[in-house]
Amino acid sequence: MSRAPSLHWLASAQAPRQLLLEADPDADKIEGYLRDGRCRIARLAGETLGAYVLLERGAGLIELMNIAVAPEQQRRGLGRLLLDDAIAQSRLLGARRLELGTGSFGHQLTFYQRAGFRVVAVEPDYFLTHYPEPLFEHGLQHRDRLRLALTL
Ligand SMILES: CC(C)(COP(=O)(O)OP(=O)(O)OC[C@H]1O[C@@H](n2cnc3c(N)ncnc32)[C@H](O)[C@@H]1OP(=O)(O)O)[C@@H](O)C(=O)NCCC(=O)NCCS
Repeated sequence: MSRAPSLHWLASAQAPRQLLLEADPDADKIEGYLRDGRCRIARLAGETLGAYVLLERGAGLIELMNIAVAPEQQRRGLGRLLLDDAIAQSRLLGARRLELGTGSFGHQLTFYQRAGFRVVAVEPDYFLTHYPEPLFEHGLQHRDRLRLALTL
């Protein structure tokens, strides 16, 4: 990236839904966690390039509900910038643990593990029972959900 994007909190009403759908195809679920969650975006030259949503779960736990980079902006370090920021902001909010759930066993898993996340649980059939439509990525159906956690 030639110029660095800046990071901003947004009111949930302004959250970039289209971008968040890249990480979670269920618009109702997104609305659900945006109600109490905090949305932060990376912006450059007035354009929103990426976003994430944090949800405070109490007892020192924050969950990263969504993280997404615009498709044409991926693989340029923006995801790592957002993830590092999510970790830093969670610490500032007083959390001791940051967790997330993912159905991706591919590059997203590498992405999270590089930032220090560890796999702490597997929820078999999660995507079959919690999503109305089957989810596919690279022709592979999401079935089980991995829980990942980072001690802050
Ligand atoms: C996951 C995501 C946020 C990563 O954002 P990004 O800006 O592409 O990530 P970065 O450029 O910081 O990449 C960091 C590392 O992640 C891995 N990675 C990211 N995208 C990858 C890809 N398409 N293929 C292989 N590895 C990839 C690589 O290890 C990469 O490091 P490298 O480029 O040095 O090899 C982005 O791919 C995305 O928005 N995907 C769609 C939404 C999504 O799946 N969200 C997560 C739901 S669990």
